[in-house]
Amino acid sequence: MIKALRFAVAALAASTVSAAAMDPGDPAKGEQDFKRCAVCHNIGPNATIKVGPPLNGIVGRQIGSWEGYSYGKATKEKGADGTVWTEDMLFTYLADPAAFVGGASKMPMKFPDEQFRRDVITYLAQFNIDGEKK
Ligand code: HEC
Repeated sequence: MIKALRFAVAALAASTVSAAAMDPGDPAKGEQDFKRCAVCHNIGPNATIKVGPPLNGIVGRQIGSWEGYSYGKATKEKGADGTVWTEDMLFTYLADPAAFVGGASKMPMKFPDEQFRRDVITYLAQFNIDGEKK
């Protein structure tokens, strides 16, 4: 248990370091990459809840705050103090959602590829809370 925890902390620290150096991604590639998210997430003007919450306006949105979506406890608590998503935080989160929220996550996916994460985050960052491109 302790060993597993140490590993999680080390992994989080390592990804935080690379997040600090996050280069901008390619939004066109990110749009293609988003197909891997679209199984569970909608984005756009008509976005509705699927397996996960819509991702409209996710950069700058409070963690775990989409109204009507039933978040896991750890995700909800992570945003309870009003913390909003930054691109760097998303970069760390997507590599390992459970490690980022510090508990069980309802999002079962991990996306280790750094370029994939940069591209998809750059794509997401284009959308405002109404799902329109800024
Ligand atoms: C198999 C389904 C699934 C896939 C695929 C998936 N997610 Fe998720 N995602 C979820 C679920 C479920 C949650 C809610 C997590 C919780 O409540 O613990 C979530 C939560 C999130 C959140 C936090 C939302 C908030 O309101 O704070 C972000 C950001 C996110 N996902 C981004 C992505 C991105 C980007 C991709 C693709 C690269 C992706 N997800 C792929 C199911 C998925």
